[in-house]
Amino acid sequence: MKIITVTGYKGGIAKSTTAIHLATFFSEFGQTLLVDGDLNRTSLAWAERGQFPFEVVNQHKAMKAISGKEYVIIDTPARPDSDELAELADGCDLLILPTTPDVVSLQPMMQTARDLGDDVFYRVLITIVPPYPNKEGQMMKQELQKANLPVFNTLIRRTTGYQQAAMKGVPIRDLKTGDLRKAWQDYKNLGKEIQELWQ
Ligand SMILES: Nc1ncnc2c1ncn2[C@@H]1O[C@H](COP(=O)(O)OP(=O)(O)OP(=O)(O)O)[C@@H](O)[C@H]1O
Ligand SMILES: [Mg+2]
Repeated sequence: MKIITVTGYKGGIAKSTTAIHLATFFSEFGQTLLVDGDLNRTSLAWAERGQFPFEVVNQHKAMKAISGKEYVIIDTPARPDSDELAELADGCDLLILPTTPDVVSLQPMMQTARDLGDDVFYRVLITIVPPYPNKEGQMMKQELQKANLPVFNTLIRRTTGYQQAAMKGVPIRDLKTGDLRKAWQDYKNLGKEIQELWQ
């Protein structure tokens, strides 16, 4: 079983969106469970409006639901304290720290990375990236690489498709409109990067 935890000190940085779309990706490879530890129950509410290709439970039901799963994705509350963060990091196969490409998100992400220490296997994911010709996403990636922070090559573009998908209760993969294919391709590329990391 492989466990991915998506976390960070800041709210609204696409933790839940990332957890949902990675669960969608991995559900194409094996039985997948999404544990919604977000107190807003973003993923559970999203799933209740439609249908996800994987099971979603809250953290209290996770113990039972985990049996037989190959992939477990854990979405976390907006602001875990540093003790909670250590517990979240302990025992997962990959920790993902999303950040949007702006200083307001960068600082809490750096603090999260510092609090994780050296023993945790993590990667930074740059999300809600404004479209070309804006270069903030690429610039942020270069800055993080210069600072020796491990960052995913894949950037997650900004699109209103995620709001449409949330309203319909499906992952963006299932909306199948032209420009949203590219958005789904972002999370597919991210999933492939993760598979390569684990090889
Ligand atoms: N790539 C994207 N493009 C555009 N909007 C996005 C993208 N990813 C997420 N969003 C939107 O940003 C908002 C926050 O996303 P999400 O709920 O995934 O963040 P979160 O980090 O889980 O927030 P919280 O801390 O409240 O749990 C939502 O309205 C979501 O639809
Ligand atoms: Mg959330």
